[in-house]
Amino acid sequence: MKEEFAAQESNPLRSAGWFGGRDKGGFIHRSWMKNQGLPDHLFDGRPVIGICNTWSELTPCNAHFRIIAERVKRGVYEAGGFPVEFPVMSLGEALMRPTTMLFRNLVSMDVEESIRANPIDGVVLLVGCDKTTPALLMGAASCDLPTIALSGGPMLNGRYKGEEIGSGTDVWKFSEAVRAGTMSMGEFLEAESCMSRSAGHCMTMGTASTMASVVEALGIGLTFNAAIPAVDSRRHVLAHMAGRRIVEMVREDLRMSKVLTRKAFENAVRVVGAIGGSTNAVIHLLALAGRLGVPFTLEDWDRLGHDVPCLVNLMPSGKYLMEDFYYAGGLPAVIRELGDLIHPDALTVTGKTMGENVADAPCYNRNVIRPFGEPLTPVGGLAVLRGNLCPDGAIIKPSAASPHLMQHRGRAVVFENIEDFHARIDDPSLDIDESCVMVLKNCGPRGYPGMAEVGNMPLPAKVLRKGVTDMVRISDARMSGTAYGTVVLHATPEAATGGNLALVENGDPIELDVSGRRLHLDVSEAELSRRRARWTPPPRPMERGYYRLYVDHVLQADRGADFDFLVGHSGTDVSRESH
Ligand code: FES
Repeated sequence: MKEEFAAQESNPLRSAGWFGGRDKGGFIHRSWMKNQGLPDHLFDGRPVIGICNTWSELTPCNAHFRIIAERVKRGVYEAGGFPVEFPVMSLGEALMRPTTMLFRNLVSMDVEESIRANPIDGVVLLVGCDKTTPALLMGAASCDLPTIALSGGPMLNGRYKGEEIGSGTDVWKFSEAVRAGTMSMGEFLEAESCMSRSAGHCMTMGTASTMASVVEALGIGLTFNAAIPAVDSRRHVLAHMAGRRIVEMVREDLRMSKVLTRKAFENAVRVVGAIGGSTNAVIHLLALAGRLGVPFTLEDWDRLGHDVPCLVNLMPSGKYLMEDFYYAGGLPAVIRELGDLIHPDALTVTGKTMGENVADAPCYNRNVIRPFGEPLTPVGGLAVLRGNLCPDGAIIKPSAASPHLMQHRGRAVVFENIEDFHARIDDPSLDIDESCVMVLKNCGPRGYPGMAEVGNMPLPAKVLRKGVTDMVRISDARMSGTAYGTVVLHATPEAATGGNLALVENGDPIELDVSGRRLHLDVSEAELSRRRARWTPPPRPMERGYYRLYVDHVLQADRGADFDFLVGHSGTDVSRESH
């Protein structure tokens, strides 16, 4: 083995700092690893590839990841690398309380420190359920090793009574139908087995599919990462190829920061518009850019994305599902269709540019992926609103909103927090009709805490029974990427920090003007000052543990709700030994 190490010494990899020593430390590092049945030659200086796994049976969207990890390992071995799989905390959107977003930053710390503390030269991030993607990207970005993100793929289309049904989107519809009396409880319960019928994440263009698309658009995932269904054999091939490619990337020293440039972020914004992607992408990309030091702001979302047409006809903005999207050509067909709106020279983990990756991408179904000149909706991007209700910004997804409400003035009906909302929304005496503006406070990063996906408040039953399906809703919360409606989200500063949202009272007139990018509380400044003087912050949720760390350090939505002390990166150097 001495000779093998000698051959590597002219250009040793990071892992040689552990496995290359001939002293007590080297003995310890190699010897204990060998209890797993690993032969000598794996320690000869070859690239050590970490496979960062968010597998968990409590994260059903990622429950197939041990199989995916095995496929990555095959590729790593084939290319002459040494794969080491390691777990990090997983975030299951369907189960975790109060919201997975509370833990995104915690997982990013787990990822960052796990990578830095170990003899790893390159990483494959196994991501799927919503927050697992940004959490792993953020953590890895703060280390900046060669990295590939590999999504686990969407579930097959749901099918119920001969119709295709989509994760999340049809849950909201069915739930409203039960409340409106048009769907029985028996039908409702039957539908749940029909919706989730294979391994994989939500198969609508919700946050998971959006972030899988963002991975591909950023160039940090392989081509076709976004759409291959989880159970399609080609997902396993993609995992295998990710394993092969990451070994090459280590040899090329193709680090994350060489891929995740300003151009990559601009490409991602435009792709999110073209796919009718989730509003959650805004927060996650702002946080990721903050880790890398890439100048990228909320304004960029509006400037770069507002005129991008929505080309992908997927729920919740459209009709189809991710399986259809893959068969139609997947994300490469969309990126090719965007033409000049994409930076073709942005480098990707394939070793080629984005333009080269999609140069020959075919489209097989124009109902699913529309031509640029015949979009699903002319405006697919997200609109950033300003005004005295959100001086630091708020967002709305026009493609998921009702055209007749995009310019609206209505009287506020205020809910002080989510408990207040649940207690009163179906109270027959609640003074509300479809012209009102529903306002929900204290659901932002600090207020909830964790900025839960409650911004798409269900409408009052008495309004639903009239056949009304949408109203203007405003909050400092997020909403599920599978949701829809005229919903203003991420109002910043949030109510819990004393933003003007905290000062809204029942009956206040509120004006929404999406084309004018304006959200205005029509109350005099003098009156707002009086209210501000009376305002007291809501009680803190918990005085110990992670909740306390979170509330003390979380930034507002316009900074990606990252922790103030996590912005930036620390590289991978660790000078001190453990023994
Ligand atoms: Fe995991 Fe939707 S619940 S992606």
